[in-house]
Amino acid sequence: MAAMFAVTLPSYGGPDVLTWAEVPDAVAGSGEVLIDVVAAGVNRADLLQRAGFYNPPPGTSPYPGMEVSGRIAAVGPGVNEWRVGDEVCALLAGGGYAERVAVPATQVLPIPYGVDVIEAAGLPEVACTVWSNLTRIAHMSHWQTLLVHGGGSGIGTFAIQYASSLGVRVFTTARGAKHEVLKALGADLAIDYTTQDFVAEAKAATNGRGVELILDIQGAPYLNRNIDALADGGHLVIIGLQGGRTGEIDLGAMLAKRVTVTATTLRSRPAADKASIIEGVLADVWPLIESRRIMPVTDRTMPMSKAAAAHEILAASEHIGKVLLVAPGYDQPAIGHAAVVMTDAARDLVADGTAADGAAADGAAAEDPQAKDAAAPPAAPAPTAPEPTTAADAAPEPQDPPTPPTAAPQDSASDVDTAASAVGVPAAPAEDEARLSGESDV
Ligand SMILES: NC(=O)c1ccc[n+]([C@@H]2O[C@H](COP(=O)([O-])OP(=O)(O)OC[C@H]3O[C@@H](n4cnc5c(N)ncnc54)[C@H](OP(=O)(O)O)[C@@H]3O)[C@@H](O)[C@H]2O)c1
Repeated sequence: MAAMFAVTLPSYGGPDVLTWAEVPDAVAGSGEVLIDVVAAGVNRADLLQRAGFYNPPPGTSPYPGMEVSGRIAAVGPGVNEWRVGDEVCALLAGGGYAERVAVPATQVLPIPYGVDVIEAAGLPEVACTVWSNLTRIAHMSHWQTLLVHGGGSGIGTFAIQYASSLGVRVFTTARGAKHEVLKALGADLAIDYTTQDFVAEAKAATNGRGVELILDIQGAPYLNRNIDALADGGHLVIIGLQGGRTGEIDLGAMLAKRVTVTATTLRSRPAADKASIIEGVLADVWPLIESRRIMPVTDRTMPMSKAAAAHEILAASEHIGKVLLVAPGYDQPAIGHAAVVMTDAARDLVADGTAADGAAADGAAAEDPQAKDAAAPPAAPAPTAPEPTTAADAAPEPQDPPTPPTAAPQDSASDVDTAASAVGVPAAPAEDEARLSGESDV
């Protein structure tokens, strides 16, 4: 049987459970293409999957990795739009940390003109998440002000550039050491959430009106403050639950201001939804990248076999933008000029103490009682070693998040997808545990 190498998860736990191992080769099924992976993007959700808090949808490859770039190695039956050798990037439900991955042809995008094939690995997840939420759901418009929480994240660096390129006024929260880079990306106002009150700052900068739109990754601890920071008729879009999933909402405040709150996830959407988002991204976002109004922000690249080190970097928030894993046999990238500037700046800032401040970023989660509840999930059967798959993304995506195999604690801050609660497996290192305990991806 043909084989390939992939980053496997023999058990849940800290970064050291990530194991570079030989597994059966991926095979393109009907409607799929097989991609020879050049690079894979590392996403926060991968850390949750590794820790046992975010299992991939049923039928998906068990290996982490929700986005890749590479070259098409084979096309399955029924695929006419792609050819062997095409350079592409793709949105996956899993399986990207591997030498090859099979993906529905409808989740594949061309490499944008002018973008290095390695850097393109960091585009699909952020572009699809940001476009689907800000444009398709929230109908973001150029006259609005957008508050992006976590501006230094992969999501944040893209959202700042996307909104700014459309003429939207952008505010962002991040630790102070990252502000210089975020302003260079287009943020009009950067707020240090560790020392400043983002509600007061947002109101002060809008003559007391508040912002029309918020893209939130914190969840519960920011819920009522976000509503407070919104202008009348504003829209809060929650895409991450890093601070916790269960919060009490002041419906009176919502009512009085006529605000909308939306929470969404990309990974578990049906394949048809993903295909439609890919079409929108190709039409609306790719031209902005090709005209250099949006740059990939690559913090650093690392060999794919060093995925554990990449996870440690994300956990400590030592990065600005994307961390990419490069598959064996591919040289380190010739990164685009602007991205090199960003990368160097990011490294300098981290060297200035951003990493040392790591604990501060955990503030909300660590202080959230829910987070503490969730830090001691009930014992559950240890996960079995992942079954190798031959066709990532082959099965239809579930409409609703999968049901955990064991009941989560009443107030668990763990993810909607918490099979996890499940953690009868080796404990994650303290740093990760603190960070991940209150966190759940969506
Ligand atoms: N719903 C979806 O479909 C979807 C898709 C993709 C991603 N997401 C979510 O989007 C978020 C970002 O993902 P990513 O992979 O881009 O993450 P990432 O690069 O690891 O970034 C996480 C960021 O969180 C920031 N942060 C931590 N505590 C904060 C706080 N209290 N206030 C504001 N920012 C804070 C950190 O910034 P500092 O260093 O400044 O603390 C860091 O930049 C995650 O929650 C992820 O689950 C959701």
